[in-house]
Amino acid sequence: MRALLIGGGGREHAIGLSIVKSGTELAVISPNENPGLMRIAKKVIIGDENNGKWVLRNATKLKPDYVFIGPESPVAHGVSDILLDNGFKVFAPSSEAAKLETSKAFCRKFMSENQVKGNIESTPFSDPDKAERFIRDIDYDFVLKPDGLTGGKGVVVQGVHFKSREEGIGIAREYLATGKAKLLVEKKVVGEEFSLQGFVKGSRISFLPIVQDYKRAFEGDRGPNTGGMGSVCFSERGLPFIDKGIVDKAKDILEDLVRKFNRKVTSYVGPIYGGFIATHDGPKLLEINARLGDPEAMNVLSLMETSIMEVAAGMLLGLQIKPELRDRINVIRYLVPRGYGTKPAPSVLEIDEEKVMVKGLRIFYASVNQDGNRIRQTTSRSVALMSEGSDIEEVNSRFSNISSLIKGEYEMRNDIGTGKSIERKKRAMKIIMSQKA
Ligand code: GLY
Repeated sequence: MRALLIGGGGREHAIGLSIVKSGTELAVISPNENPGLMRIAKKVIIGDENNGKWVLRNATKLKPDYVFIGPESPVAHGVSDILLDNGFKVFAPSSEAAKLETSKAFCRKFMSENQVKGNIESTPFSDPDKAERFIRDIDYDFVLKPDGLTGGKGVVVQGVHFKSREEGIGIAREYLATGKAKLLVEKKVVGEEFSLQGFVKGSRISFLPIVQDYKRAFEGDRGPNTGGMGSVCFSERGLPFIDKGIVDKAKDILEDLVRKFNRKVTSYVGPIYGGFIATHDGPKLLEINARLGDPEAMNVLSLMETSIMEVAAGMLLGLQIKPELRDRINVIRYLVPRGYGTKPAPSVLEIDEEKVMVKGLRIFYASVNQDGNRIRQTTSRSVALMSEGSDIEEVNSRFSNISSLIKGEYEMRNDIGTGKSIERKKRAMKIIMSQKA
């Protein structure tokens, strides 16, 4: 068996590891020389992963049995479409199916027209004057969300990223000034977020354990939004601060959405990600991603005994595959360039891999390039470290003294998945749930 994987980040390193675990030969098309993928793949082709014709030419030469696409951008650029049209077995949605991610306005409208629960009041605007008039009229705190892809960094929330209504209007006007963009004004909902991922073929979803991504750049959940600074997963035990009943309802919402979408729009195939928030009024859907999350993919794929290859092969045959999971807690912390989230300043890292692994940490390489014995950062996330165990304190203890093993200029949030952070979230959710009508 041979698989082709498109993408070169931390999520793709995790997908690659899951593919090779099944004994499958791996080829990769990536924009960067990811050291982790370079080690496990038989072939790595560096180039523009969004260029469908070029990807097709390479795929035709490589003759893979299955194709996996990690990031959203190649799907949005039609790479899955051109591969599907040419007879490849692709475990990723078509660009039409990925509209659930690539147009937030489409997703909200579809949910509303088809009575899918968990929707949030949301109005799209292209005209800055209309957006301003609308914002002046509403009597709730709001969120501004670009309609298209933003790599998780585009959403701004009143009371978090901007304080006053006037400030929000300024941001909306500036965003819409070109006349080409579309922006959603959404009602702000309060609660703890969780990522619910799964694999889809037909109307059923094979769900994976929920994960929480720490999106903000700085410790204490402060600073700008990022693609994700790290994440925590408690396998099927579930996150200790999210009620199990809320997760069950979120699963129903996602399955209802996919079922109706398959019937009315197009068939959805491949990984899916529901970004939910647990509120006093049940789960609300913040966004759909037509892919696995980064870093969340590392949490769940590491817990899966079943390889993603077995999942894809079975599901593309129409079988319902339920991945077997280990009962472990895992925490991911990303090393990022200094200034990541605002003005990243890439530098060079030296990693003592052996000592990092002796400590019990796993390394996932992300948007970096191999440079001899060193790792050259880009402006994006560099390296993810994962600790796994049965007890949260034990899991966290492995992150001590990282700076003695990884030299260079980088930042890492030390509060991700700590007992203190989990307790704080539990207290916050208790207050939120007590406001239940
Ligand atoms: N970690 C958030 C995402 O992958 O969109």
